[in-house]
Amino acid sequence: MKRLDGKCALITGAARGIGLAFAKAYVAEGARVAIADIDIARARQAAEAIGEAAFAVEMDVTRQASIDQAVTDTVAWLGKIDILINNAAIFTAAPIVEITRDDYARVFDINVSGTLFTLQAVARHMMARGGGKIINMASQAGRRGEALVAVYCASKAAVISLTQSAGLNLIQHGINVNAIAPGVVEGEHWDGVDAFFAEHEGKAPGQKKREVGDAVPFGRMGTAADLTGMAIFLASDEAEYIVAQTYNVDGGNWMS
Ligand SMILES: NC(=O)c1ccc[n+]([C@@H]2O[C@H](COP(=O)([O-])OP(=O)(O)OC[C@H]3O[C@@H](n4cnc5c(N)ncnc54)[C@H](O)[C@@H]3O)[C@@H](O)[C@H]2O)c1
Repeated sequence: MKRLDGKCALITGAARGIGLAFAKAYVAEGARVAIADIDIARARQAAEAIGEAAFAVEMDVTRQASIDQAVTDTVAWLGKIDILINNAAIFTAAPIVEITRDDYARVFDINVSGTLFTLQAVARHMMARGGGKIINMASQAGRRGEALVAVYCASKAAVISLTQSAGLNLIQHGINVNAIAPGVVEGEHWDGVDAFFAEHEGKAPGQKKREVGDAVPFGRMGTAADLTGMAIFLASDEAEYIVAQTYNVDGGNWMS
């Protein structure tokens, strides 16, 4: 018996990075997955590489019509959605006096509104079926502000708060809403972060990554594989009594 046998999952932003690692890990545990992403070409490549237990669905979490269509397509293909991972997000950074309204709006549109309205659309489906599991991707960035990362940090604090409210509201319908707060995770996302700090703090390429890795109590940056255990657990029947929590999976960076 695998831990997610017979389960069906919709994972946003799963064409690459952590979302893709979650999709592979879920399939290995017996689930079928919808790889939902705005980058449909890459989502298709990812789904083909995984095999028949995965399919790609185009989804822009900033557009309600796209969310609704992706949920409809996913239910048509999988038959149901037992698990949602709200993983799609973008990172931006800037000194406070250089933050623009456009940048703020874009980050909140994807990271916060995208999370809330995808959660809402899937929750309606789950309520009709009697329950499900929803996992939101927060971040250690949501636990405290950072000098150059105000907007992203605020967006992830909002994800932690939404996880609490949605968790409390939806548990009466048998839907567990929880979140994972990773620390610093290797991948294309962090390559972009490193490039930003190289420019703004005069660091050599790769230097910021080395510094944040060395500062992790565990002794290195995380990898997507470090997060899959928590994502499987929170989606499994073992997590039935866990409600509205955000779990740090960060090598010891944050304690709460
Ligand atoms: N990498 C880290 O260090 C780290 C740390 C803490 C939290 N996180 C969080 O984990 C999650 C995954 O991070 P990652 O490093 O894999 O990111 P990533 O940038 O590698 O992947 C994000 C994916 O989201 C997709 N996406 C972007 N905008 C979208 C939209 N409007 N609609 C649908 N899809 C969209 C992208 O195409 C991409 O495939 C994010 O929520 C991120 O904030 C990452």
